[in-house]
Amino acid sequence: MRMSSSIASIGIGIVGSLCTPAPLPADETPAAAQVKLREQVGDRLLIGAAIDARMLDNPAYANLVATQYNSITAGNEMKPDALQKVKGTFTFDRADRMVDFAQKNKMAVVGHTLLWHSQCPKWLFEDESGKPLSREEALENLRTHITTVVKHFKGRVIGWDVVNEALSDAPNEYLRDTPARRAIGDDYIIQAFRFAHEADPDVELYYNDYNIEADYKLPKAVRLIQELQAANVRLDGIGIQGHWLIAHPEMAELERGFAVLAATGVKLMVTEVDVDPLPRRRAGADVNASEAGQNPYLDKLPPEVDAALAKRYGQLFDLMVKYANEGKLSRITLWGVDDGTSWLNDWPVRGRTNHALLFDRQHKPKAAFFAVSKSLSAIKP
Ligand code: XIL
Repeated sequence: MRMSSSIASIGIGIVGSLCTPAPLPADETPAAAQVKLREQVGDRLLIGAAIDARMLDNPAYANLVATQYNSITAGNEMKPDALQKVKGTFTFDRADRMVDFAQKNKMAVVGHTLLWHSQCPKWLFEDESGKPLSREEALENLRTHITTVVKHFKGRVIGWDVVNEALSDAPNEYLRDTPARRAIGDDYIIQAFRFAHEADPDVELYYNDYNIEADYKLPKAVRLIQELQAANVRLDGIGIQGHWLIAHPEMAELERGFAVLAATGVKLMVTEVDVDPLPRRRAGADVNASEAGQNPYLDKLPPEVDAALAKRYGQLFDLMVKYANEGKLSRITLWGVDDGTSWLNDWPVRGRTNHALLFDRQHKPKAAFFAVSKSLSAIKP
């Protein structure tokens, strides 16, 4: 299948042509202006970034996002605690602003996320003493949340990360122990997909997680995909988060993982790419994990580390472009735009100066940006 037709089929048509963003203030950095990732890929691939609503007040940042990317994900604004912190009170203003920005600039919006163990209000699945609610009560809360949110964004969001990070990192344990699972049972994932599909039969539905392409978690991911397929729920894509390190996982492991996940027949999306050049003990992206650690690069990366970061980005994008060209991968989203606002400045070590993205703190494109652009130039027409 050609990528253009698969993108058409995921509803990108609703936001118009991806190649021609609306005119914006001419204040972007001259270096960035020369290469535009969204122009390079046209309508053959969704290339996106996670953004924060408050950053859109900065015209240079907004302009950078709109000229480089044809899609966005809300970094926080569509998570359950952002949309329904208090039971029955929905707050859509910040998320709506982001959607308006995307529509104005002919960008697709990905909804992230309907259900996650983190950034999820306690009342959804627990009583005041922290005990799990009854299955019926928890299902009703989940149904109301998903139905209201999905209907609110109907026609303006191309797809939802329905469930985020349900798989366990522990050996011999399949599903993560979460408040939703304790209250509802193992079928909470299937139920979430059903509620989302009932609320909007046209919207795409994804399962999203980190390290699912890594050897230790891959069999669990395949099992979950197969269980969702066997339950006949709508599953359009599997989101490989892609929070990677410079040297880990090795390319060979990633290649194996991509191949096995693609063989399930579900479209691949790489949904949260960043490459951490700072030392740390564990890979992946478990938000509950924290570490003590050094903060070695207070200004910028030394040239050899900057070059290693760029080389790694190039290799990763070569792999993703290969799958895109085979019609098996429809989106690549970076988890952030510039180094200054990356979540990796505070995770897994708080208060570091990280350099994991394509643009530096002055919004200038880094060597990694040009490596990515080079890889994207191999996208087939
Ligand atoms: C992160 C946000 O970027 C941070 O601002 C927030 O403090 C914590 O969550 N995996 C995910 C994302 O699926 O939702 C997380 O986003 C990063 C890890």
